[in-house]
Amino acid sequence: MQYACLIVALVFAMTANGQMAGGLSNANASEYTGSAWKSVPEINGQNNGADYLVPIKVLKAQVQVVAGTNTILEVLVGESTCAKGGPIQAKQITAANCPLKANGQRAIYKVTIWEKVWENFTQITAEKVRDVKPSEQF
Ligand SMILES: *[C@@H]1O[C@H](CO)[C@@H](O)[C@H](O)[C@H]1NC(C)=O
Ligand SMILES: *[C@@H]1O[C@H](CO)[C@@H](O)[C@H](O)[C@H]1NC(C)=O
Repeated sequence: MQYACLIVALVFAMTANGQMAGGLSNANASEYTGSAWKSVPEINGQNNGADYLVPIKVLKAQVQVVAGTNTILEVLVGESTCAKGGPIQAKQITAANCPLKANGQRAIYKVTIWEKVWENFTQITAEKVRDVKPSEQF
């Protein structure tokens, strides 16, 4: 019985250490839609299509506690009806003013959001992972 307790304690200690060392934990992707929209300017800084891309769905979310919080998202994006160089700037894009274009091109982007709330610091980077075929379902 005492051995069992010791083993359980060790396993817990190791898990706690793993997380302090900055391990990635999976998070509920459907709770990161807002974060994906926050990264729209960065996503659009990384593509040279004619229309702005907007998030369709967060496919995967991972969180890492470092100096602050690192959130790593895999976001499915698609062409919107807003043209670049039009009246709407990338920072003003919302689901309401730039809806998805019917049969627009889709792609998957990896977005990293590094936040240090106590310093009011946010750094967002985005990179394209791949294009998505019209037939792919998510
Ligand atoms: C993920 O979050 C959504 C929205 O908050 C919730 O409806 C769903 O039950 C959650 N899924 C899991 C596996 O926790
Ligand atoms: C944090 O940043 C926002 C936006 O730049 C600004 O409005 C706010 O005053 C800042 N807060 C602090 C505590 O620096």
